[in-house]
Amino acid sequence: MVSRSDFPKDFVWGASTASYQIEGAFNEDGRGLSIWDAFSAEPGRVKNGDTGNAACDHYHRHKEDVALMKRANFGAYRFSVSWSRVLPEGRGTPNEAGLDFYDRLVDELLRNGIAPWLCLYHWDLPLALHEARLGWTNREIEPLFADYAGLLAKRLGDRVKTWATFNEPNMFTMLGYGAGVHAPGIRDREAWLDAVHHVNLAHGAAVRRLRADLPAGAQIGSVPNLQPARPASDTGDDRAAAAMMDSAMNRGTADPVFLGRYDPIMREWMGDRVKPGDEAAIYTPLDWLGLNHYSPTYAQARANAFGFRNVDPPEGSETTLMGWQVAPEAFRDTLVETSKRYGLPVYVTENGMADDVEPDGAGRVEDVGRVSYLKRYLGAVLEARAAGADVRGYLVWSLLDNFEWAMGYGPRFGVVHVDYKTLERTPKASYHLLADLAGAVRRHGGGQPGTL
Ligand code: FCB
Repeated sequence: MVSRSDFPKDFVWGASTASYQIEGAFNEDGRGLSIWDAFSAEPGRVKNGDTGNAACDHYHRHKEDVALMKRANFGAYRFSVSWSRVLPEGRGTPNEAGLDFYDRLVDELLRNGIAPWLCLYHWDLPLALHEARLGWTNREIEPLFADYAGLLAKRLGDRVKTWATFNEPNMFTMLGYGAGVHAPGIRDREAWLDAVHHVNLAHGAAVRRLRADLPAGAQIGSVPNLQPARPASDTGDDRAAAAMMDSAMNRGTADPVFLGRYDPIMREWMGDRVKPGDEAAIYTPLDWLGLNHYSPTYAQARANAFGFRNVDPPEGSETTLMGWQVAPEAFRDTLVETSKRYGLPVYVTENGMADDVEPDGAGRVEDVGRVSYLKRYLGAVLEARAAGADVRGYLVWSLLDNFEWAMGYGPRFGVVHVDYKTLERTPKASYHLLADLAGAVRRHGGGQPGTL
């Protein structure tokens, strides 16, 4: 279905991960706690009481993980930095040992010809900030986030050329502050809107700081999750609910960041949170857009605080272990629309699926479902490119099976299997598929946006 020659030689292939989901070593070498350490320690928050305390132990095994990526011919690796590992209190005195870890990781990647793509925030807010009421619901977090960005720019900017501010700001604000099912477990519409606006402002401030502190030529972007919001039925109420869900989950964080203005629904909801000059402060020209996409979503009208509810896909839909619908054409359409609407080079920074496939008697992991999913979704990338979308790379979610937030270790998203007892890594059939496709890459591009 898809073959090497279908993709341009300089197409960027790679994988994405997130600090809390893989690093482990939660209390080593001076790391401060994050809201996810506290949340996962609370009974009933995460399935089976799983925590990220040990996760994939990537903190100690990063060399092995980089070697796996090299063998897969990957040109880029998007990882996130644990804010509380480098600033245990979220501000103040940096933790040298924490910074050293990211130094080692970046150096190891570069030694292996893999471009490090650094994401500043993948959901693990320092607990100290949350407890001091300086989390995302407080506007005062804006300069603290910019200072954190500056610290990393100064430390790693000589080697890291590709930067992203937030991973899925739409998701963590809704899940963590609106719906209360992710850390820090707040369920309040007003807190959600506060968090959205402050995250947007913090994005703008961080981009300005990165531009000031990074060498010229740095490639700065952000990573929204964009997914069609479809009405659950053809009634007027459900169509209105889908429009609201589209604002809440897609436009609310992407439009201000990439276009410089809130969409009309979100602007009304924001009310006087948006001060004169805020939209201009959020909008700071970027070099690339990282698109995370898994499936379409379905909205039903509901008399709750949001006016909508996210419901299951239609009866009979093909779904994965997460209950997410498999719909490659929705991916194609999202790529085309995103490229057109926001006008930036698009890199797919997350896409993939969960299963629970274990090694067979011969030690092979035949994740045939994922192989088929990836082929179909990569086919959608090709269709989107043929329709004019400027899609320049594909980073699979994820390199390793890992801690899937409130779902714990049940759903396996990796192209490499992790045995959580022995921590042994076993490449799956899907890994070999990607390694083969990535094998055609011209290495001199180095996997950096903008240098293609
Ligand atoms: C995304 C997250 C990522 C992972 C995947 C499955 O929303 O960014 O950390 O959990 O979903």
